[in-house]
Amino acid sequence: MSDIPETMDAQVIREHGDPEVFESATLDVPEVDANEVLVEVAATSVNPVDTKIRSGFASGLCPDFPAVLHGDVAGEIVAVGEGVDEFAVGDEVYGCPGGLAGTTGALAEYAAADAATLAHKPDSLSMREAAALPLVTITAWDGLVTRADVSPGESVLVHGGTGGVGHVGVQIASLEGGVVHATASTDEKRALAEELGADHAFDYRRDVADYTDEYTDGEGFDVVFDTVGAGADNLGNDFAAAGVKGRVVTTVSRGEADLDPVHSKGLSVDTVFMLLPLIHDDHAGRLRHGEILDRVATLVDEGDIVPHLDDTDYTLDEIGDAHRRLEAGEHVGKITVRVKD
Ligand SMILES: NC(=O)c1ccc[n+]([C@@H]2O[C@H](COP(=O)([O-])OP(=O)(O)OC[C@H]3O[C@@H](n4cnc5c(N)ncnc54)[C@H](OP(=O)(O)O)[C@@H]3O)[C@@H](O)[C@H]2O)c1
Repeated sequence: MSDIPETMDAQVIREHGDPEVFESATLDVPEVDANEVLVEVAATSVNPVDTKIRSGFASGLCPDFPAVLHGDVAGEIVAVGEGVDEFAVGDEVYGCPGGLAGTTGALAEYAAADAATLAHKPDSLSMREAAALPLVTITAWDGLVTRADVSPGESVLVHGGTGGVGHVGVQIASLEGGVVHATASTDEKRALAEELGADHAFDYRRDVADYTDEYTDGEGFDVVFDTVGAGADNLGNDFAAAGVKGRVVTTVSRGEADLDPVHSKGLSVDTVFMLLPLIHDDHAGRLRHGEILDRVATLVDEGDIVPHLDDTDYTLDEIGDAHRRLEAGEHVGKITVRVKD
């Protein structure tokens, strides 16, 4: 522990509000408890939940003020707590251990992390690339593998095919053997979705009956994975696009929809909430996250999953701009933030 300083630079919030609420602070380096490691943070990425915690929309998830936000982290282990056998000082890791009430976040030079939530970083990725993956990849894995259990040959519709969750979802659905259909708003994004493995890509503003006819002969999709988010009220479109006994999985269920198609088509409707093991101190759930990231690291190094980084490169001091860009919906793929040069 001798090279570890007592204090560190961080970006914190002391109240909820617009991105201007971020401020620089000097904090004590976190203590490492049993089963935790101390990570020297190299990079983090922005997820909508980070912006929702900052703004106060999801204030219930916020760490105590002054709060260090952000779950996704990539970095190097500089200390290990009692009971940690699977990692050693010097290991490069990635994961989504915190940024929530009761945990420390990644917008700081050091973060304490439950070792269960981490995995060794894919060798083929930079720290920024690795930091782009954890939260969205666990979400897409839970949605398409654990919940929908996509089988080879099934038709899969991924709404938001170039967003954070969706761009990994397209790749996972394709790896599972699905015939993948991705929605996106521009030609450029649709081309990206196809590059990532979508068999077809189209505009989500098209009439649902029209694209369901074109791509499934009117039968409807076997699986619909909705990563659109709050405000779009997309569940009705999901139900309309799904075929008889189709499976609909969503990352956000805030909104209203008529459940009649669920009944008349015998749909199954499921949700993913990847933060649950972190919020509820669920050790088995946290271990599962680490295991998914282990498996994903192999897939990444074999070239089967590629993170798509937004064409921006923020530093820790520019965190407000990074949040502004995500909230404006100007990004493609993942916005990343360098913490260590
Ligand atoms: N429950 C969970 O565990 C969990 C985990 C991760 C994320 N989430 C939530 O899931 C949502 C997405 O997260 P993200 O990181 O993927 O965000 P993101 O990077 O902002 O992606 C959102 C995507 O939605 C697309 N979109 C917007 N309106 C649409 C519509 N009407 N129909 C189809 N697609 C539409 C956007 O496409 P265009 O850019 O082409 O408009 C974009 O690709 C957020 O609300 C987030 O909080 C939940």
